[in-house]
Parts: sequence; C-alpha cells; structure tokens
Amino acid sequence: MRVLVTGGAGYIGSRLVPRLLERGAAATVVDSLVYGATPLEACREASGFRLVEGDLRDRRAVGSLLREESFDAVIHLAAISNDPSSELDPELTREVNSEALRALMAAVKESGVPRFLYASSASVYGVRAEPEVSEELALSPLTLYARYKAEGEGILNDLCDADFCGVSVRAATVCGYSPRMRLDLTVNILTEHAVRRGAIRVFGGSQLRPNLHIDDLVDFYLLLLEADAAVVSGRAFNVCAANASVLELAELVRATVNPELPIERVPTDDLRSYHLSARRASDELGFRPRRSLQEAIREVAAALADGRLPDPDHPIYRNVEWMKLHPERVGLG
Ligand SMILES: NC(=O)c1ccc[n+]([C@@H]2O[C@H](COP(=O)([O-])OP(=O)(O)OC[C@H]3O[C@@H](n4cnc5c(N)ncnc54)[C@H](O)[C@@H]3O)[C@@H](O)[C@H]2O)c1
Repeated sequence: MRVLVTGGAGYIGSRLVPRLLERGAAATVVDSLVYGATPLEACREASGFRLVEGDLRDRRAVGSLLREESFDAVIHLAAISNDPSSELDPELTREVNSEALRALMAAVKESGVPRFLYASSASVYGVRAEPEVSEELALSPLTLYARYKAEGEGILNDLCDADFCGVSVRAATVCGYSPRMRLDLTVNILTEHAVRRGAIRVFGGSQLRPNLHIDDLVDFYLLLLEADAAVVSGRAFNVCAANASVLELAELVRATVNPELPIERVPTDDLRSYHLSARRASDELGFRPRRSLQEAIREVAAALADGRLPDPDHPIYRNVEWMKLHPERVGLG
C-alpha cells in the first residue's frame, strides 16, 4: 500500500508514519515543515519513506506529486491545527484549512486515488447540552478552526462515490508523546505543569473534555485504510477513549505524577464542554481504544525527565507561540 500523508511531520503524523512503514506500507509525507523535519529523522533510512517539503496551497506541486506516484490512500492531517492559531490570520487559515483542502480533495479524486481519510475534529460539535454527542447530531462549530473542519467534511462527502471513499475522523483531543511534541494539548499541558511547575494549573475545571491516546488515533487511521468502503465512505466517526472534566484530568495527572501536588483553579471563558460518544466506531468497526490516559501521562512525564524534551519552554511545542515567532514558516500575513 502506498499512502500519502499530508502534515506527516506534525504531532500525529510523526507517530503515524513510522507505524505505516512498520506495516510494510510506503509512506510519502508532504509537509511545509512549520515545525521542522527532525520528527521524521528516524524514518529517513526506512524503505518506502519519502519526505517532500511542500505547501498544500501550491496546487501545481500537489498535482505533480499526485502524478509522480500512484497512491492507494491519502491521510490528510496538514492544517492550521487548533483554535488560537487559526485566529492569528483568518485569511491564511481560509487558504490552508478551506481552499487548499477543497483543491486537494478534488485533485486526489481526479488522480484516481481510491481513499481519502480526513482529520476532522470533535470540535465540529461546538458546546452541546446533549448527554452523548454522537455523529447523528447536526454540527454546530463555534470557531473558525471548527467551521473549516466541518466544511471540509461536506466537501469530502460530496465527492464520495463508488470509486472514491472519503472518511472524516472526528478525533477527541489527543495526548501522549510524539517526536514532534505538542505541549498545548490539555493532558500534555497538565502533565508538563505537574512535572516542572510544582502545581497543576486548571482553567475552569468542570468542562467535560474527550481525550484519546495518540497511538489509539494512529490505530484508528490504520483500521480505516482497510475498512470496508461500503461501511465507512461518506461518513464521520468520533474517536475518543475517555470523557473527563478538566479537573478530573488534573487529578489523574496528579495521581500519576505526584500525589502531593496542589491544583490551582483559574477562571476561564473557554467553557466548551461535551461528552463524546465513541459508539459508532465500536459498533460498526469494532474499534476500541487500548491505551489509558495514564499511559499518555507517564510517557510525557518520562520524555520530560529523560531529555527527549530538553527545553520544554521552547515555543516550538506550542503552535500559536511558534507561529507568532516564525510567521514566515506558515505564511502569516
Ligand atoms: N492534536 C489533536 O489533539 C487533534 C485533535 C483533533 C484533530 N486534529 C487534527 O489532526 C491534524 C494533525 O494535528 P497535529 O496535532 O498533528 O498538528 P500539528 O500542528 O502538529 O501538525 C500539522 C502539520 O501540518 C503541516 N502544515 C501546516 N500547514 C501546511 C501547509 N499549508 N502545507 C503543508 N503542510 C502544512 C505542519 O508543518 C505540521 O507538520 C490537524 O488537521 C488537526 O486539526 C488534531
């Protein structure tokens, strides 16, 4: 199997690509390398690996890549990938998360690639009163980031037919270690506080947040590469391991890292709160996450302790900080 992974040098991609290679797939990564290429260093010598530095907004480059190789699937991860970084430059976000996405999906279908897996997000649901947020609910995205994620699902669904299988992955917030580390994701942030700051700071606390170990999300993408198109095409799947309040997550981090630590609560206006149902993926695809959040916490704590994250205050671990410091890397106006 030959797979094109957009954004493959990112947090999720740099855990996914080695797993694809381990399974004997060929993996071509196209990435504008906003966070550099070192996260894929370990893949460089692997047979079947290819890294193409490129911006998805460059349609000609995308077109020639699709002509050069004959792919069996595309996994589309590249994006301005959270709420605050999407707000930095709405025009750039529109170019990457909407225009380039639309053009990519059309070009992929046109070139005869039969499968497209799209990194959507659970944020497409917005703030919900329903006790269980399942895929049947109408989408209600609240932020620019979430609106484009939802729009992308619609574009993909319209392209799906007997020869083109498109699937949207509505992932919970991911946690755990990656060679391209993000310390701006809830569980990872709380773990970094616990390990380094002598206290865990919680913004709000009662909001429910769905979470997922990074390797479980990778497992889900691998499963979708092989899943029956008749079952998955034109559809969205929630992926989630555990729903917990931010305060419960902080307590879990404390219990895992250091039970003596204080938890400091700070008021916030970010009250997004929802309980994500993972039943569709379980009932229809037999998918059940296998890792606990504690495993993710232990991994991040170990990486902070053993020098894999030598300077945890470095802005490269926080997307919005890095983009502000290096506007030229993302094309910020
Ligand atoms: N991390 C999460 O918790 C989470 C949850 C739900 C959905 N997602 C989605 O999964 C995808 C991957 O997330 P991540 O955490 O790995 O993000 P990330 O920011 O670590 O990775 C994004 C990658 O995309 C690349 N990129 C950005 N703009 C590009 C462009 N114009 N052309 C080519 N490459 C470009 C970056 O260089 C980076 O390597 C994103 O679409 C994100 O919205 C992430």
